[in-house]
Amino acid sequence: MLGVGAAVGLVAASRARTSRAGTGLSGGDLRGRTAVVTGAGSGIGRSLALLLARRGAHVHVADLDADRAEAVTRQIVGEGGSAEAHVLDVTDAGAVDTFAEQVVAAVGVDLLFNNAGIGHAGAVAETPLEDWQRLMAVNVMGVVHGIHALVPRLLAQGRPAHIVNTASMAGLLPTPGMVPYSTTKAAIVGLSDALDAELKPQGIRVSALCPGVIDTDIVRTATMRGEWQERQSGATEFYATRGTSPDVVARAALDAVAHGRVTVPTPRYQVVPPWLLKRWFPGVGRALSALVYQRVNARATAASGASAASRAQSAVNR
Ligand SMILES: NC(=O)c1ccc[n+]([C@@H]2O[C@H](COP(=O)([O-])OP(=O)(O)OC[C@H]3O[C@@H](n4cnc5c(N)ncnc54)[C@H](O)[C@@H]3O)[C@@H](O)[C@H]2O)c1
Repeated sequence: MLGVGAAVGLVAASRARTSRAGTGLSGGDLRGRTAVVTGAGSGIGRSLALLLARRGAHVHVADLDADRAEAVTRQIVGEGGSAEAHVLDVTDAGAVDTFAEQVVAAVGVDLLFNNAGIGHAGAVAETPLEDWQRLMAVNVMGVVHGIHALVPRLLAQGRPAHIVNTASMAGLLPTPGMVPYSTTKAAIVGLSDALDAELKPQGIRVSALCPGVIDTDIVRTATMRGEWQERQSGATEFYATRGTSPDVVARAALDAVAHGRVTVPTPRYQVVPPWLLKRWFPGVGRALSALVYQRVNARATAASGASAASRAQSAVNR
């Protein structure tokens, strides 16, 4: 295992490497700015929307789920902030384009968070093609649609802007049991890096947000195949009890906007040490991933067994 000193050194070194100049957009004071957040009805997107509004931005709260988008918007307005709810399916290119036209035509957009995403776990041999297609449609094409619709409009505005795409720790590290999900998230890491290099000279910055294990709804609602199906309740419990708050991720995202960070591992203590290990010693990184996978598997199996046993016990008691 890495010592604490070594881990801190790795974290500091990676911070230096991922920091570049920002657009001048402050992540702290966003009064007069407009932000779009997709998948804003729950989890990380919800935390982003609330934080953006608390820092003064007008927020377009977009989600597939109308009730959730409206609930987040009501909370923002109830706290004295400014927001509008939108029902938006990011897999629908035409709908995203119409949405982009509508939000840019009002007062423009300064911050775009392509955050909507879905989860998946299961061995590749047990994953039907439809799962791959759905993951690619939401996690990859959903982001592409946001970029395709908004980049030309952001450029036409002629003012600085920042795009934050939610990728994942799984996009930085080999993750057995999550190959389709990792594929989509690695695509977003690469897309964001290349797009930042392309747009930076024109005043638009791009970041890939790479969260670790975060306490949101994603595991409960994920599609799980094969033996992972039996582990879903255990994995859900693991994320709920051991996961980091999505508020931490939202703060890291706005910090990345302020400092122009391209790759944003968060929380750093979870993601940075294994990520750097993988970059510097790929073989060790892969072995570590396999080990973590085995341990998570064992814990999820144990927790699922425990919750199944407690459900059976309550049934007996009834
Ligand atoms: N929770 C984690 O541990 C974790 C870790 C790494 C990355 N992520 C990523 O963070 C992002 C947000 O996930 P979360 O953890 O907050 O999950 P979540 O399930 O709590 O929230 C996801 C939101 O996206 C919405 N959504 C799903 N499909 C959509 C679509 N087609 N169009 C519009 N909205 C849609 C859902 O309705 C939901 O409100 C995702 O991209 C996910 O892959 C999450």
